[in-house]
Amino acid sequence: MDQIVNVNEFQELAKRALPKMYYDFYSGGAEDQHTLKENVEAFTRIMFRPRVLVDVSKIDMSTRILGYPISAPIMIAPTAMHMLAHPQGETATAKAAAACNTIMIVSYMASCTIEEVASSCNAVRFLQIYVYKRRDVTAQMVKRAEKAGFKAIVLTVDVPKFGRREADIKNKMVCPQLRNFEGLISTEVLPSEGSGVEALASSTFDASLTWKDIEWLRSITKLPIMVKGILTREDALRAIEAGVDGIVVSNHGARQLDYSPATITVLEEIVHVVGGRVPVLLDGGVRRGTDVFKALALGAQAVLIGRPVVYGLAAKGEDGVRKVIDMLKNELELTMALSGCPTIDDITRNNVRTESERLK
Ligand code: FNR
Repeated sequence: MDQIVNVNEFQELAKRALPKMYYDFYSGGAEDQHTLKENVEAFTRIMFRPRVLVDVSKIDMSTRILGYPISAPIMIAPTAMHMLAHPQGETATAKAAAACNTIMIVSYMASCTIEEVASSCNAVRFLQIYVYKRRDVTAQMVKRAEKAGFKAIVLTVDVPKFGRREADIKNKMVCPQLRNFEGLISTEVLPSEGSGVEALASSTFDASLTWKDIEWLRSITKLPIMVKGILTREDALRAIEAGVDGIVVSNHGARQLDYSPATITVLEEIVHVVGGRVPVLLDGGVRRGTDVFKALALGAQAVLIGRPVVYGLAAKGEDGVRKVIDMLKNELELTMALSGCPTIDDITRNNVRTESERLK
């Protein structure tokens, strides 16, 4: 692993380690995968305004999210079915999160149970949820998460219908039985054609979900609620009106609506209307410490890492995930030093120049 010098190199290792069907599931995006490319490329169009002769002999990357201290503003995004990547599944990812002193958002579609993840380590964990047509099943998951010491619920709002992921359709990708739902819902849907994951989602996810349902969620839990999948200022305002405790700017890693904007390009308009009332996080295409820095400069409190974590897990288990987070942290530390920002609070809008500013 010593020869790996950046997180992108884990993708090739994961490709070699995984059966094609699973690699395609992890790496793919929706339709033409235009947004998939854009998520990464939009970061490359933002340049720095580095400041010099600042004392950067000590760099402090630590921050707090919903009051929980973390070593750096780099968290683990919820991604489904880690056991397809590694036999230890989410328990290995959670151990890496604990070792890196960061927060893991555990997917509703995790392969390990909520309780297994909780007992595997003392990382701060949030539970991501979808709302099923069978509300009792979703409510039960939320209760179990509360009982297992999870600290927040992250409601993903960008999957009223499943995005068209063509590799999964070709491969007839099937979701195995997820242990969290054993005895409640059969997740192993075997359609005669197409993607079994899509078939599972369309038979279980509640496409009638609206802003009113935040009230329902609020009525069943005392945990803070974040919404994940916001891409416009209008929806950010609706979220604030609905009383959420945080917003994740996300296009679901470009797996839902192709030609939705790269997340980094809409972050600022959302941060602007939120006006500091709740934390704003961002995910999608974060592959470098410089990307993390750019997101912070444009107003995010932290970023979430999706695919690179799964690739690290597939390639090297817990150590691979640790390495992914550590490499991003090291790169962020260097970027902060070379930009003249010894602490997270020192990173401001003045530290970056966006494409439209450069064209002026
Ligand atoms: C995801 N994502 C996701 N999101 C969510 O809310 N619940 C989920 O179960 C999943 N599952 C999932 C599986 C896989 C394989 C991927 C790649 C993504 C989306 C995820 O949380 C996040 O938004 C993106 O992955 C971020 O983009 P990057 O870092 O992958 O570019």
